[in-house]
Amino acid sequence: IWQAIPQGPPDAILGISEAFKKDPSPKKINLGVGAYRTEEGKPLVLNVVKKAEQKIINDPNENKEYLGITGNPKFNALSAQLAFGEHSPVIREARNATVQCLSGTGSLRVGAEFLAQHYTVHTVLLPSPTWANHHKIFPLAGIKDVRTYRYYKPSTRGLDFEGMIEDLQRAPEGAIVLLHACAHNPTGVDLTPEQWRGILRTVQQKRMLPFFDSAYQGFASGDLERDATAIRLFADAGLELLLAQSYAKNMGLYGERVGALSVITKSADVTKRVESQLKQVIRPMFSNPPRHGAAIVVEVLSDPSLYAEWREELKGMAGRIMQMRQELFRALQQVGAPGSWNHILDQIGMFSFTGLTKEQVRVMTDKWHVYMTFDGRISMAGLSSSKCHYLAEAINDAMRS
Ligand code: LMR
Repeated sequence: IWQAIPQGPPDAILGISEAFKKDPSPKKINLGVGAYRTEEGKPLVLNVVKKAEQKIINDPNENKEYLGITGNPKFNALSAQLAFGEHSPVIREARNATVQCLSGTGSLRVGAEFLAQHYTVHTVLLPSPTWANHHKIFPLAGIKDVRTYRYYKPSTRGLDFEGMIEDLQRAPEGAIVLLHACAHNPTGVDLTPEQWRGILRTVQQKRMLPFFDSAYQGFASGDLERDATAIRLFADAGLELLLAQSYAKNMGLYGERVGALSVITKSADVTKRVESQLKQVIRPMFSNPPRHGAAIVVEVLSDPSLYAEWREELKGMAGRIMQMRQELFRALQQVGAPGSWNHILDQIGMFSFTGLTKEQVRVMTDKWHVYMTFDGRISMAGLSSSKCHYLAEAINDAMRS
């Protein structure tokens, strides 16, 4: 049956990790996937996660029964609070249908399928560039008309704000617009609060439906509130919107696949009906979500001392990434890599967009064993002090090849 099946292409991001594993070179560095590493290059399990797991294991009432279709109710309530804020009108008025899903990707997918079934405009606008998976999730879920809006300006290595506004204004009335809540992936270029207000005005004028992807709350700036600025601005303005949240990065729960989708409506009554339809999407897709990761999140968010400790650990991770930006910047200057590298300092979050071309990335990987995505993105969270000089040398050489 399968004789003629063609070979599928490697994944733009996870395929890089597969290639990295096969490389026997002791010099190799994986800056492809966005996964936090310690200074020693090791994956990190947060202390609060270890403590929460102990509590769960020792709890005599804990079991392995199925969760409900929408997941752990405490997890859903705490996740909505984390994103929209404790005193948010959305939560006070019970206007959020929040359901536990399989991390960011799963939340986006459930949200997109819900929109394909119940929203009349099947056009989504994605930033250019964006996380590669966005381009696949929406059409596979049934939102077939995928367009892009200008976001990154290569000449300034910053935001193309005018281009973004123009493209949103040109979009069909009511189109879905995907917005990165903070720490834009892959560019690391974010909007200022003033620019967000400009986008909000345009979105309101065009009656667009914002779909926020929030994968880095607290991880970008080290401050959970600050990283929720855009989401809260839109929600507090009374907009109907969708939000996909992931705990992969900010709680280091990558493989636990824990996240949430919120659909914000105009009333508690509509919210109930929306939730009933989200169940119709989830049940045939994965039946109900897994327990363990959500239980960890509940412990951390509901126990004041664990919550305080989590905030410190978050600051620690965000701080180490910012330090890597400084050290890579200095190393690039030392080796005399051509051009200005201020963007490495200005960009925010897990990634830097180096500006390297596809050909230059090939030199980085083939000659220097530095693994990164072909769009020139590097994961700053995968870098350590001892590797900055080597990376700078590789970049310098690739640019001159
Ligand atoms: C990334 O962009 O590297 C991460 O969000 C991991 C992923 O799933 O692609």
